[in-house]
Amino acid sequence: MDSIRITGGVPLSGTIAISGAKNAALPLMTCGLLTDERLVLSNVAKLADIATMSELLAQHGIEVTHAGRDVTLGGKITNTEAPYEIVRKMRASFLVLGPLLARLGQARVSLPGGCGIGTRPVDLHLKGLEAMGASIELDGGYVEARAPKGLKGAEIVFPFVSVGATENLLMAASLADGITVLKNAAREPEITDLAKCLIAMGAKIEGLETDTLTIHGVTSLHGAHHDILPDRIETGTYACAAAITGGDVFLENARASDLGAVLTALNEAGVIITEAENGFRVTRANGLHGVDVTTEPFPGFPTDMQAQFMALMTVADGASLITENIFENRFMHVQELSRMGAKINIQGSSAIVRGVKHLTGAPVMATDLRASFSLVLAALAAQGETTISRVYHLDRGYEAVEAKLAACGARIQRLV
Ligand code: EPZ
Repeated sequence: MDSIRITGGVPLSGTIAISGAKNAALPLMTCGLLTDERLVLSNVAKLADIATMSELLAQHGIEVTHAGRDVTLGGKITNTEAPYEIVRKMRASFLVLGPLLARLGQARVSLPGGCGIGTRPVDLHLKGLEAMGASIELDGGYVEARAPKGLKGAEIVFPFVSVGATENLLMAASLADGITVLKNAAREPEITDLAKCLIAMGAKIEGLETDTLTIHGVTSLHGAHHDILPDRIETGTYACAAAITGGDVFLENARASDLGAVLTALNEAGVIITEAENGFRVTRANGLHGVDVTTEPFPGFPTDMQAQFMALMTVADGASLITENIFENRFMHVQELSRMGAKINIQGSSAIVRGVKHLTGAPVMATDLRASFSLVLAALAAQGETTISRVYHLDRGYEAVEAKLAACGARIQRLV
């Protein structure tokens, strides 16, 4: 199993190109199930999760061709079952349910099971599809969904915001009979990106960037070309890397407007963001200051930035209260950061971080994707050497980490 060794203490300096967003690319790839025609996605990052999605779609019969950063999808669906072996590796696989059901009136998709960061049920996806006329049964760990006469438009009010449920139902509703209204829908930039691609494929969707999406179902969708938006979480992560090392880094392709509350929190912490036409520069005036953050749906502070921001706060002046409201078990990085000298106490869903003068390198273990990068950040700032094991978590969602950081002067090496 690969690990990464980092010798800390180098202020990062240079340019990091931000890749296409993983969490936009995954649902966008499932749009390949909504038409037989060619769907070309550009700016697709080379990630383990993208490879997993390609494998899943291929076994549904879709031809998936990778050429540089373009992924072309096309062809007929030959199999409507998404097997446990793939779904358990990556929960985003569950997003094939809506498209398969809308297109062919049936789907058998494995339930994803447990996850390292929380229980993560899929009840909202299922209730929404039921409201659209599907019959849902559970059989041997699989969801058996049927809508032999097609899905019908419905008004669906989500009791709380779910990115995945909004995406699944948005795709399903695009091919349903009649009008679907999704209320209290997620409005993350990845949802807007998905809606834009669906519109390019012939879908009729109103309310982009708001919490109410109105979808006028159409009978078929066609091929399209869609350019995926830059990854806002990768952007925020590298902004933290520049800040924690006291460096000066230009984040090429980054879109400040997609960062929501992350930008505000970075500013309050003493990080300076200077916007340019094709990205923004991240520097620091003086030291870092403790800032309180609470994770919330967009435009609030994203749960996917919580671990990285916590790493930043471990070396800030003063205390920081970090509250995790989205997932119930997303503090796995705390114990690992503590091994490097961080002072963090967990109280229920909050962590109190008391900044220390410096962290010290140590052997640590990655537990999930974002937690992994919080350890990379801590290692970049720490005195001495850190070895991070289980970095396959990192490879799921961050492209070319060593190359991007090494180009800015980091002493980082992969051990295979
Ligand atoms: C997406 O997951 C992201 N994944 C996650 O990114 C991200 O952390 C999360 O949204 C929140 O922003 C992808 O986009 C592929 P949710 P998703 O449905 O869609 C509960 C990363 O690091 N819930 O918005 O699964 C759920 O348990 C990752 O890149 C239900 O109870 O998240 C959670 O507490 C990890 N029932 C909350 O809602 C449901 O049916 C929000 O989850 C659905 C969700």
